[in-house]
Amino acid sequence: MTDKTGEVVLEVDGLSKHFPVRRKGRELLTRKARSVHAVDDVSLTLRRGRVTAMVGESGSGKSTVARLLAQLHKPTSGEIRLHGKPVDTRGGRRFRSYVRQVQMIFQDPFGSLNPVHTVRYHLSRSLRIHGNTGGNLEEALRELLTRVQLTPPERYIDKFPHELSGGQRQRVAIARALGANPEALLADEPVSMLDVSIRLGVLNLLRDLKERLNLAILYITHDIASARYFADETLVMYAGRVVEGGDSETVTQNPAHPYTQLLIDSAPDPDRPARADEVGGEPPSLIRPPAGCRFNPRCPHVMERCKTDLPPRLEIGDTPGHWAACWLYAEGVAKPAPVATGEAAG
Ligand SMILES: Nc1ncnc2c1ncn2[C@@H]1O[C@H](COP(=O)(O)OP(=O)(O)O)[C@@H](O)[C@H]1O
Ligand code: SF4
Ligand SMILES: [Mg+2]
Repeated sequence: MTDKTGEVVLEVDGLSKHFPVRRKGRELLTRKARSVHAVDDVSLTLRRGRVTAMVGESGSGKSTVARLLAQLHKPTSGEIRLHGKPVDTRGGRRFRSYVRQVQMIFQDPFGSLNPVHTVRYHLSRSLRIHGNTGGNLEEALRELLTRVQLTPPERYIDKFPHELSGGQRQRVAIARALGANPEALLADEPVSMLDVSIRLGVLNLLRDLKERLNLAILYITHDIASARYFADETLVMYAGRVVEGGDSETVTQNPAHPYTQLLIDSAPDPDRPARADEVGGEPPSLIRPPAGCRFNPRCPHVMERCKTDLPPRLEIGDTPGHWAACWLYAEGVAKPAPVATGEAAG
């Protein structure tokens, strides 16, 4: 590892994304435009040589955050800074440099590789577009495949996606991202579509890349146990908002937000993700999200102010940097009894 470990690569401040909803029926007669509040006021920091996990149930806005960071969506509001510089104008030089430095890995490795093209095509294209052939394409290709542990490289280089296993395809997708020589990787549920038996291998590869290439990684998952295993820091998303954050060990062993506590309690088996209905109740509408704390209709500790006032990030005080957006941690409120989570997070 170089001495730059921990240096800030990507910073996100107050990021929001609202998708307009098409009006139908009687709504066409009114002027009211409705929108899905997919992501609201999300702030996070990605650092060199560190993995940040973003955990949440389906529909909580995780992929939208990744797509905003990959510049695939335009934010409704908020700022994204790469090495301190805001990225605003699309298509300009700074924008192109950004999309090279921040690469995304998608959930479905089959969907993200073109079935009519070989591994050689996918990787050569990435190396050429980003000017990273180093004058010797064959050598650069061998190096990429070796880096993702597809060895010997000649066994894989001329294969088509359908000739590879899911895990091998995801390794090719990772190699393609590395062809850009990125500083940050956005991995959106990179192992959730793979066989349970090979998930760990792909996560270990990402960890190895983090260490050897000093990459900043955003690891998106619905599986909080894998966040504990793999990530340095964990953020918990609920209904488009980040509700808790801190180092992964603390967030998974001493969860502070009632939603995180329920999420951990309801996931006894790390290979079986908690479903929304197991957490109790349904996730709220994002078209008209609940006022105050968005978790208030499902929260066992709900208080009057939770229904009207949005809780800010409040320090928990057990470890530096551990916070929750929950009124229970405001001064003068009696805290709920801690839940036993050590075994559950396994
Ligand atoms: N392009 C889009 N247009 C409209 N709504 C969208 C779009 N993308 C996502 N959404 C909505 O935003 C919310 C968050 O979705 P998503 O970010 O995919 O969540 P997750 O990845 O956590 O499952 C969902 O309600 C989803 O239906
Ligand atoms: S702010 Fe209130 S409703 Fe929201 S999680 Fe905390 S106690 Fe529950
Ligand atoms: Mg998603």
